[in-house]
Amino acid sequence: MKSLGILLSGRGSNFVAIADSIDAGRIKNAGIAVVISNLADAPGGAAARQRGLNTLVIPSQGKAREEHDHEVVAVLQQHKVDLICLAGYMRLLSPWFVQQFPRQILNIHPSLLPAFPGLEAQEQAFAYGVKVSGCTVHFVDDELDHGPIVVQKAAPVLDDDDEHSLAARILEREHAAYTEAINIVLEGRFKIVGRRLVRESPL
Ligand code: GRF
Repeated sequence: MKSLGILLSGRGSNFVAIADSIDAGRIKNAGIAVVISNLADAPGGAAARQRGLNTLVIPSQGKAREEHDHEVVAVLQQHKVDLICLAGYMRLLSPWFVQQFPRQILNIHPSLLPAFPGLEAQEQAFAYGVKVSGCTVHFVDDELDHGPIVVQKAAPVLDDDDEHSLAARILEREHAAYTEAINIVLEGRFKIVGRRLVRESPL
């Protein structure tokens, strides 16, 4: 049984999608050991509490990044998590945090990286005029929205879209992509070659 730790700051729809996948058996042999929010009023935290999951608020406001990261890492280690899923966690992790969990931290980003890293990726893609966008689940490294890619899913940009309809289409892909990526990583049948995640062929 693998233990997941979820970090979030907001709405929490990716967290809910992961929890639903575990409940439905789409992610097997895994459970959510702890959900941590850095904001007390994050709807995702409320959703986690409602599901009866072990949910903690570790406020980040007014704390130096490493100080906050130390508190979060202590809780994750206490729960012996195998994999950390950033699910709308609006904090950069310090290099120290990343070093504590090598290749054990995933993030989801609402664009086809390396296009449109950073904030408001859907708006950036829409304004740029791309015809295809999507989402990326990747390992976290020291750079923003940067580590090796695990799963990407494309979404078309339609003529009558606005930023919101595009973001909603991408979000649907996000929910499916995170489940796929977690399964790939928990199975562990891959290697990282340079930046490339290469899956081992089945026996
Ligand atoms: C998602 O768009 C995700 O890709 C980005 O932050 C948003 C979080 O949404 N990293 P939610 O809180 O999971 O609903």
